[in-house]
Amino acid sequence: MKARVTAHSRYTISEIDNRLYGSFLEHLGRAVYTGIYEPDHPQADDSGMRRDVIDLVRELDTPICRYPGGNFVSAYNWEDGIGPKENRPTRLDLAWRTSESNQVGIHEFADWAEKANTEMMLALNLGSRGLDEARAFVEYVNHPGGSYWSDLRKKNGRADPWGVKLWCLGNEMDGPWQIGHKSALEYGRLANETAKALRSFDKSLELVVCGSSHSEMPSYPQWEATVLEQTYDQVDYISLHMYFENYEKNTAEFLALPEKLDRYIGTVSGVIDYVKSKSRSKRDVKISFDEWNVWYHERKNDAKRMAEWDWPHAPALLEDIYTFEDVLQVGCILNTFIRRSDVVRIACIAQLVNVIAPIMTVPGGTSWRQTIFYPFKFASTLGRGTALNLDVDCPTYDAAVAANVSYLDISGVHDAASGTLTFFAVNRNGTEHLDIDLAIERFGSPKSVEHTILKHDDLEARNTAEEPNKVVPKQGDGAKITAGGLSLSLPPYSYSVVRVQM
Ligand code: AHR
Repeated sequence: MKARVTAHSRYTISEIDNRLYGSFLEHLGRAVYTGIYEPDHPQADDSGMRRDVIDLVRELDTPICRYPGGNFVSAYNWEDGIGPKENRPTRLDLAWRTSESNQVGIHEFADWAEKANTEMMLALNLGSRGLDEARAFVEYVNHPGGSYWSDLRKKNGRADPWGVKLWCLGNEMDGPWQIGHKSALEYGRLANETAKALRSFDKSLELVVCGSSHSEMPSYPQWEATVLEQTYDQVDYISLHMYFENYEKNTAEFLALPEKLDRYIGTVSGVIDYVKSKSRSKRDVKISFDEWNVWYHERKNDAKRMAEWDWPHAPALLEDIYTFEDVLQVGCILNTFIRRSDVVRIACIAQLVNVIAPIMTVPGGTSWRQTIFYPFKFASTLGRGTALNLDVDCPTYDAAVAANVSYLDISGVHDAASGTLTFFAVNRNGTEHLDIDLAIERFGSPKSVEHTILKHDDLEARNTAEEPNKVVPKQGDGAKITAGGLSLSLPPYSYSVVRVQM
């Protein structure tokens, strides 16, 4: 099958905000306990944090990490996680029906984030609590001193404020499953008043208001319109979430789902424009896509187990073991974000460790990279710079979710500083090679090209603790320099990174 792609130096989409490659860590399952924190582990540092996990997070180079939830945050008291560890209460976490020991709180997470080379994005509880808790937490985290909450932080061992800029005004408040779920109007009013209070403290904070939990919610997209009408002049981002499922084991349909993601982004972008015009505002609100991933492998089992268990502490939960097929999906999702980087400024893979995550750990044992670790790492480390508006001409197929789905899913990024062009490409065709004539115009001539490929004959191939290297990137031989640019040959169902030095 043949395709033609043109990259032109003047056809650009946007400078990518590096926070497009953000991540998320929730007090859920083994994400925190035996994930990042395991004081008895041979690799634990002085604070009980696993050094092997820190190394893997650094390898992913994720610039921000959203914390502490997720559904968990909507009944969380952040004050339970400060002060001497022996005095911290154990609480019931109503979101996941587990016990929370509070041995990790804001101090421990902040120290870990610094070691993992990532900035904190903190979520506030607007479910069971509200404005007062939010202003106290922001003061605790960001005020230098001389006030009740900032002096308490000092007393608890942290002299300097952490200076966290990015704050989420609750989580998935449109969802009936959320503790303290609200109507769009109730939530919009609360979010606006909370945002005003936080801005009275610091105008420069970046605030994220909740959009829809997914695009099948009955309240979508009216939720976005109502919430933004209440908050437009006080917030910077609207949060969207989407998880991808393949219960039917239909690869063509599964890989077409990013078309739905693209429509979701397009619709919410339209709602933002509508409210901006309606409120005669001069400011721009952008999208923070702060939860996304494949999530279905263990989902039904988990729901059964949760209904039966007796408030365990840090049980295995949402531990999806990813396949090679999921590599292709994650590649297409990241490509969608790069192509929409003018409006999606922040995105967070959900989640980071053990819970629907690229990094897995064995309690007391090893840590390893899931299959999806690789496309995320490549995008995060190589996908920085200017997103290109590629012209793509490729045969298509019709799926239930969208007609005319291109067999070639591709994004391109120009990094002027290193003089490189990087293309991330997925061949969505399961039987045919894609032979691509890729024209490179007005960038100069390619000097060298490197092709890295993820390909496995078995779509169900998985990495595990016992076999961590079943699906790993290899050097490819499908990229050649031509007179006009490149020729690429991508095998059926494959993920490629093509990096060109100009
Ligand atoms: O990431 C798992 C859960 O998915 C989060 O807690 C919630 O926000 C979403 O529904």
